[in-house]
Amino acid sequence: MYVNQNSKSKQLARDKVLARLNNYENPTVISLPADNFIFEQSVRQTYPKSKIVTLEQNKLVFNSGKQLAKNLNINHLNGEIFDYLKNNNKYDVIWLDLCGYLSGNMINNLIPIVQGRNTKKETILALTVMATREKLAKHSSIYGFSNLKQFRKKGLTSLLQSFASMNDCTIEQLDFFSYKGDKKHAAKMNLYIYKLTKN
Ligand SMILES: C[S@@+](CC[C@H](N)C(=O)[O-])C[C@H]1O[C@@H](n2cnc3c(N)ncnc32)[C@H](O)[C@@H]1O
Repeated sequence: MYVNQNSKSKQLARDKVLARLNNYENPTVISLPADNFIFEQSVRQTYPKSKIVTLEQNKLVFNSGKQLAKNLNINHLNGEIFDYLKNNNKYDVIWLDLCGYLSGNMINNLIPIVQGRNTKKETILALTVMATREKLAKHSSIYGFSNLKQFRKKGLTSLLQSFASMNDCTIEQLDFFSYKGDKKHAAKMNLYIYKLTKN
């Protein structure tokens, strides 16, 4: 079990993403459940006919979640989500509940998504990243922000927006939630929720 799994704040984050499914009758969702499927279980209960695809890159964690996925009628795959999304990108909601910090590599991986490459006309993109320990203090200056805090809060969104507009797409920030798990050594996390539109 990872450190934030049972934190109240983590549940609040899940609820915030779940609330974004309200506009859909049978949403198609792709997410990273670890092996707990707490969010995906809520999706299945609220939207019995939803299509849910989940990815897990760690083989042990993947195996430990297989049976639960089967019970919930979820297409659970062992693999890397950004690789998978390159060819399978048509979802109403994409939740990248990542455990790492915001890296240049991660930003590169987000570009085709925010540029609407193979996506639906509208997509909700939720992204959770660690708000500390970036090895990316350089981001703030590379992209013209005075400090890392500014970059985290506003810079990522404007950066993604600039990539989106290159391909006539728009990104609107619907929510930003900064939280820390209950455990003493839990890292601070940031949840960004965007609406992506192909114009
Ligand atoms: C923070 S946990 C997910 C927590 C879960 N969504 C919840 O609500 O409790 C992230 C999981 O995704 C996996 N993961 C991280 N990056 C991934 C990637 N790029 N592709 C596939 N799996 C990834 C990790 O191994 C980990 O099990």
